[in-house]
Amino acid sequence: MKELIIRRGELKDVAQIVDVHCSDLEDGTWYSFKGGIRNEAAGPSSLSLYERWLNGGSWMSKELCSVYLNNLLLNGHIPLVAEQRGLIVGEVELFFGWESDGKLYAHIGVAQVHKAYQRKGIGIMLIKEAINVARRRGAYYLTVRPREYLKDYYKDLGFSEWLKTVVFSSEASPYISKIVWEEDSTYFNKKKFLHFIMGQEQSSAQIWQIFHQNHFALPEFTSEPIHTGKAISQNQEILAIFYPHVYCGDMANVYAWSGNKINTAHIWTMLTLAYHFGYAKVRSLLLEDSFDMMKAKLPLEEIERQEIFRVEL
Ligand SMILES: CC(C)(COP(=O)(O)OP(=O)(O)OC[C@H]1O[C@@H](n2cnc3c(N)ncnc32)[C@H](O)[C@@H]1OP(=O)(O)O)[C@@H](O)C(=O)NCCC(=O)NCCS
Repeated sequence: MKELIIRRGELKDVAQIVDVHCSDLEDGTWYSFKGGIRNEAAGPSSLSLYERWLNGGSWMSKELCSVYLNNLLLNGHIPLVAEQRGLIVGEVELFFGWESDGKLYAHIGVAQVHKAYQRKGIGIMLIKEAINVARRRGAYYLTVRPREYLKDYYKDLGFSEWLKTVVFSSEASPYISKIVWEEDSTYFNKKKFLHFIMGQEQSSAQIWQIFHQNHFALPEFTSEPIHTGKAISQNQEILAIFYPHVYCGDMANVYAWSGNKINTAHIWTMLTLAYHFGYAKVRSLLLEDSFDMMKAKLPLEEIERQEIFRVEL
């Protein structure tokens, strides 16, 4: 495409990155969430920053996107933008971290082209440059969790299916009597991750960035604590994040890593901790093999299946 360049995104790009993401709201409508009830809104100016966030995350306002992008850059991750004659028309975000095989992984956490510029080849140019950037940085693999209708698109770019996962929910309950929990948020400062045993919906590095490093000074984000730390239970160590679910306040999203491969004690431990943190339910993910093996022994309710693709660099 003529005059299109792909370059690293910077803080000065925030307003245009927000425009790109806001151009493509799920059904083209902004919603208000007053009193927890969803209603069509006239537009973003009538909404609080938190309501804007509920419409599509940190990219829905300049204020939150500045904080988000600042954290992303400070932690060594890379936003790439597609620019045409000074106008940003697309963005991809690459997250870097060492997974449990000791290899550096890059992960496409976000890929968005402005609605008015989609299906013109800009997405392909962004992903191709993401592959180049990840390779130059020394990553072994580039991963992505594609939407169903984009699987062939990523296959055409060299990706193939890597992991099959199952999203599930489960009751929180005091199943295990003795657990030691140490609240500590420094375990992953070097971005070296153990086995991702529960919650692998994106790469470890992106989950850590989004759910731990991303703090917004808004009451809706600070009123409920995010628990991050280490559990010792039945002689096993588990590092975990408990993050309140956006729409179901009594549900915790759980992300957990361990030196050991997943076993039922890990899951009982997470369900017990969630109970002690005041949650009624847990939402998380397991690899499909583990889920199918353990579902007879545990109170797991399947929600949906997802896949993560990767390409070797
Ligand atoms: C996905 C996305 C980044 C692709 O960028 P793009 O510039 O529109 O895509 P390209 O023009 O490079 O490639 C187009 C090809 O991708 C596939 N594709 C893209 N959007 C599609 C859609 N909505 N439905 C089905 N196929 C689609 C098709 O194979 C298409 O080829 P075609 O136009 O010849 O049929 C962009 O459509 C987008 O921002 N979508 C919304 C957000 C999103 O889904 N992000 C991906 C998360 S993994």
